[in-house]
Amino acid sequence: MKSIKNKTLAVIASSAIAILLFAAVAMSATTASYKVIARNDLGMHCACPTFEGFLLLPPFNTIRAQVLNGSSVVSTGVTVSYAIVENTDAVLKADPYYSSWLVNSPKLFPGFQPINAQGKIVGITGKMLSDTMTYDAVSKSYQAVGIPAYPVVTGTTKDIMIDPLGGPKRDPYLTANITVKNSTGTTLATTSTTVPVAFGGCCTCHLPLASQNGYPATPAGSFAYLGVMHAQNSSKINIAMIDPDGDGVGGPVRCSWCHWDPAMGESAAPGWPSATKLLPGATFTLKKSVYSFSDVLHRYHAKSQKVLTQFDANIATNCYDCHPGNNVNCFRGSHKGKTAIWCTDCHGNLNERIAANQMAHPWQQQSLPTCFEKSPGVNSAFACHPHDTSNSKSWDPGLFGKFIDNRGHKGSVLCESCHGSAHAEAPSTLAADNVQNSTLQGNAAFTFPAGKDKTYAIGVCNVCHTSKSNVWARPPHLTN
Ligand code: HEC
Ligand code: HEC
Ligand code: HEC
Ligand code: HEC
Ligand code: HEC
Ligand code: HEC
Repeated sequence: MKSIKNKTLAVIASSAIAILLFAAVAMSATTASYKVIARNDLGMHCACPTFEGFLLLPPFNTIRAQVLNGSSVVSTGVTVSYAIVENTDAVLKADPYYSSWLVNSPKLFPGFQPINAQGKIVGITGKMLSDTMTYDAVSKSYQAVGIPAYPVVTGTTKDIMIDPLGGPKRDPYLTANITVKNSTGTTLATTSTTVPVAFGGCCTCHLPLASQNGYPATPAGSFAYLGVMHAQNSSKINIAMIDPDGDGVGGPVRCSWCHWDPAMGESAAPGWPSATKLLPGATFTLKKSVYSFSDVLHRYHAKSQKVLTQFDANIATNCYDCHPGNNVNCFRGSHKGKTAIWCTDCHGNLNERIAANQMAHPWQQQSLPTCFEKSPGVNSAFACHPHDTSNSKSWDPGLFGKFIDNRGHKGSVLCESCHGSAHAEAPSTLAADNVQNSTLQGNAAFTFPAGKDKTYAIGVCNVCHTSKSNVWARPPHLTN
């Protein structure tokens, strides 16, 4: 009896020691192993240099940050925050282009105030230039949706983007610093990521087009002529005669009031602000379009004889006519670095996109490419990656497809966390995109096979795990 009792005590004692030891080990491992990986959700967001006339898309970048602690994705107990390095309140308030957004955005989004009660710049969802992130169980990441990031003049070699209005070059590849703290304010992990936002190419054609037709080669002249052209289509609507704030001056108008745009978070066109008036002399009535915004823009330009004969006979394959080429080159990831693949190989040229009716489902799973499948209707000599059917934990919010909105590796880690953003896949041809992976995989104990290095997709197990391999390899992609 006595011996049994002693034995029991001994077991209790040793398990108590074991618990203590375990706690100590777990604690040090915990502190050492927190990691955060952050990415902009899409490879490039577009912005415009003016807002007096019309708006395609508002300043709106979204960052997702996954916090990892060994084999678990952290969802509670930490505070995750971000700060955009190149964009501060002072810099944006002093920027003439951003100032135009400050004046015009309340007219484009009634009820929205671009500066909050504390005097801070906010985007249309209320996010500031530095702010906290909120855990989203669907993507298993901390998110900041709708950061009002904007290309700015930094005065450094990062200013590569040509200003279509002739101003100084700007930096389209901004930086966000991400910090993870615990409940007592101790920093557990930090990282930084590229926040891309650039001007598109509309002005390159539309300023000369305006002047050819007797209007000044300025944003205002171009908008006036755009209105005249829009009145010649079946809508009869001269968009330059729409006066949303009733101040007697046309504009600003938002194309997506009438042309459905999922990138605005909408599943149908919402219509114009209720106070909207028309300028004197207007003979049309307002109505919504049956076509998505992506549809009218791509289809109209690809079919216009004037565009094809006077501006660009190859617009169907020259996506950079509108998407940010202008020294920005938004398509910059490993596909560009390692192959001769072009937009048309994955998405199709404009005629293929139109023929396959892709733009009836813009920004959506039905129309966007994956790693394993091109968009519908695409002819290309390049083969996609072999399809692994179990490799999918995607969700469909009506915005984005099965790369941006997908997790691999036991269904826990976002594809983009390891691979980088779409069009910026690791290793990227843009050095700034590679900083994060290089830092995470920069441990001297980590080794890489010939031809691979720390800029590649995250493949060293011990970046996240604590007791697996230090040798870079392709992690299991399976969901279960
Ligand atoms: C390659 C030159 C080129 C580029 C780039 C370009 N456009 Fe155009 N666009 C034209 C021309 C030329 C016309 C007039 C076509 C005609 O009269 O048939 C036109 C017409 C239009 C119209 C009038 C169509 C209608 O019926 O309402 C709109 C609106 C428009 N463009 C918007 C844009 C926007 C927005 C962008 C940038 C995302 C853009 N364009 C980029 C050349 C271009
Ligand atoms: C007040 C609503 C309204 C606004 C604002 C508006 N549009 Fe339209 N748009 C229409 C309607 C209606 C049509 C006719 C097609 C239809 O009925 O769906 C149309 C047609 C077009 C077409 C011609 C499509 C074709 O197949 O001929 C283009 C291009 C176009 N819009 C571009 C734009 C752009 C770019 C903007 C913003 C600068 C814009 N629209 C703003 C309502 C609008
Ligand atoms: C005339 C200007 C113009 C040209 C040329 C152009 N785009 Fe676009 N594209 C736009 C604009 C503006 C948007 C954003 C529309 C929105 O907010 O919905 C867009 C959005 C998109 C989207 C997302 C929406 C969707 O339809 O799924 C894809 C994909 C796309 N473009 C692919 C291409 C490809 C590929 C090419 C070249 C083969 C190309 N674009 C050429 C103006 C253009
Ligand atoms: C190697 C294939 C590939 C090439 C080449 C490619 N894309 Fe994409 N594109 C994708 C994938 C994958 C997505 C993300 C789909 C998703 O949401 O999961 C995407 C998404 C997009 C989107 C919507 C969301 C976003 O990330 O902005 C646009 C717009 C777009 N591509 C335009 C272009 C243009 C313009 C080019 C050429 C300059 C291009 N793409 C080149 C594969 C490609
Ligand atoms: C834990 C990190 C990680 C995650 C999460 C991850 N990948 Fe990968 N993936 C890699 C690495 C590393 C490679 C090897 C890359 C190379 O060879 O350059 C790779 C390779 C690939 C390849 C190349 C072909 C192949 O099969 O080797 C494809 C395609 C791919 N991944 C798609 C995806 C998709 C889609 C997702 C999300 C559903 C995803 N990956 C999630 C790390 C990851
Ligand atoms: C970017 C971070 C990350 C990297 C890199 C990574 N893993 Fe994981 N891994 C995770 C997470 C998070 C889980 C937990 C998945 C779950 O159960 O929800 C996991 C789970 C696993 C599991 C199943 C659970 C377990 O721990 O046994 C295996 C096996 C695994 N990883 C193997 C690997 C291997 C092998 C590599 C390197 C070739 C690797 N992982 C690289 C984050 C990562």
